[in-house]
Amino acid sequence: MSVETTDRHAREYWGTRVGLILAMAGNAVGLGNFLRFPVQAAQNGGGTFMIPYFIAFVLLGIPLMWMEWGIGRYGGRFGHGTLPGMFDRMWRNRAAKYIGVIGIIMPLVVLTYYTVIIGWLLAFAVFSLTGGYFFPDLTVAAAATEVSAYLSSLQDIRDTSLHGGWVGFAFYAITIALITWVVSRGIRGGIEKLALFAVPTLFVMAIFLMIRVLTLPATELGSPVEGLAFIWTPEWAALGDPTVWLAAAGQVFFTLSLGIGTLHTYASFLSKEDDITLTGLATASTNEFAEVVLGGTIAIPAAVTFFGVAGLATVAGTFDLGIVAMAVVFQSLPGPEIWGRLAGFTWFFLLFLAGITSSVALASPAMAFMQEEFGFRRTNVALGVGGLALFLGLLNVVWYEGGFLDEWDYWAGTFGLVVLAFIEIWIIRLAFGADAFWKELHSGADLLISRFFLFVMKWVTPLFVTGILVWWGWEQAIPTLLMDGVAPEEIGTRWFARLTLVALLLAGIVLIRTAWRRNPEQHAPVDRPRTVRAGGGDR
Ligand code: PHE
Repeated sequence: MSVETTDRHAREYWGTRVGLILAMAGNAVGLGNFLRFPVQAAQNGGGTFMIPYFIAFVLLGIPLMWMEWGIGRYGGRFGHGTLPGMFDRMWRNRAAKYIGVIGIIMPLVVLTYYTVIIGWLLAFAVFSLTGGYFFPDLTVAAAATEVSAYLSSLQDIRDTSLHGGWVGFAFYAITIALITWVVSRGIRGGIEKLALFAVPTLFVMAIFLMIRVLTLPATELGSPVEGLAFIWTPEWAALGDPTVWLAAAGQVFFTLSLGIGTLHTYASFLSKEDDITLTGLATASTNEFAEVVLGGTIAIPAAVTFFGVAGLATVAGTFDLGIVAMAVVFQSLPGPEIWGRLAGFTWFFLLFLAGITSSVALASPAMAFMQEEFGFRRTNVALGVGGLALFLGLLNVVWYEGGFLDEWDYWAGTFGLVVLAFIEIWIIRLAFGADAFWKELHSGADLLISRFFLFVMKWVTPLFVTGILVWWGWEQAIPTLLMDGVAPEEIGTRWFARLTLVALLLAGIVLIRTAWRRNPEQHAPVDRPRTVRAGGGDR
């Protein structure tokens, strides 16, 4: 087949293995590790959370990680960096490419609210240096109230009480501009270079903060050790609670960037001879270190030291903890204020870097799709994706109060991940064939995966994912769809958020249809020979 020659010339590849690992780690390590994980662990049984979390990591996380790398590298061989083309190659069905729309639209949707949050973090990084949110004369509780107001005036574009609505927007626009610039430089010249700088930097910053937090002197309210006890003390009863298991699985999905499409795109820039088994495992482990060790040791112990376990209840939400409580921690640190300012900058800038390296991943499916399937130039696509993200992000900013961001986060960033994992795993299982896929995974492999995982991929992961989908759908998605317990004034905004999601999916479907019509040769005919489908590619 000519596939090998055409794609070699048309597609980019990662420059080095280190660059690839750091880019993949940058994709996975994000706000989920430092903000979402500690809150999830604390709310779902403390130390006991680690049991379902670890089981989900082994039975869902690692197998799905390999599967998504495998799907991605396989698709890349046919010049496809996104799921429509990948599914089209793996499953002989006209519908396959349309189902792949999820893998382009969902990352775009997550990108647009994820970047809004990163904008706040960048603002806090800058205001740490200027001391803008420092209230040295106030008590911890009073300072928390002030910082909270400070944050909401950044979040709400209509709130001009503190800085003028445009300030929050400006930080958000800078964030989008930076992401646009990086992706416009391509895989090797943009994303890989960013990762080579940002990922080691953020690890150093996180290790520094971890040490600082662990060596904090106790206050009359709490100490770092009490914080560690708070997050890690087991509550065995939690094991019997299905919502704890769902929370653990949801966290594994989110933190490893599974079920969304970005890993597939990154892996598509690998060649058939490149290892994915060992490298995939290495990036998953790097993410877990950043999550469990670093993420689990910074925010909660720091907050418990200054607020006490009881006081933590008032700042327990994800942003309350990671932004508000931490901002108060930095102004309460012993020693001269400048140290507090620098520590604050370290925290918020580390979050900013973690967020940016995940954001470029979230932008990459849309980038790849428009370049490959339509032949548009990279810089033009980058401007288009950046412009669209800026606009869609504005919806989140303007309707933030009405729950717009929450709604998008639930459908695209939480439930949607399981839906996509469900689809891909059954495509592997029923259309591509688990054994053919196992073989495909091992092409170029530096690590022979234990056959235990073949069994897991064949039976355990598919049933686990299906079980989660059914249970979660029943317990949560249906009540959420029916807006159980939603404040009446939010209902309109939330419907609007859902309609925009549906509209985006439809627009994606139209684009896929257009691409396939315009360029039938690039796209596999429905009656393509079986060898192409089942792993062989160029046999
Ligand atoms: N894994 C990232 C985090 O932990 C979030 C993310 C999800 C990034 C999906 C890309 C794709 O924050």
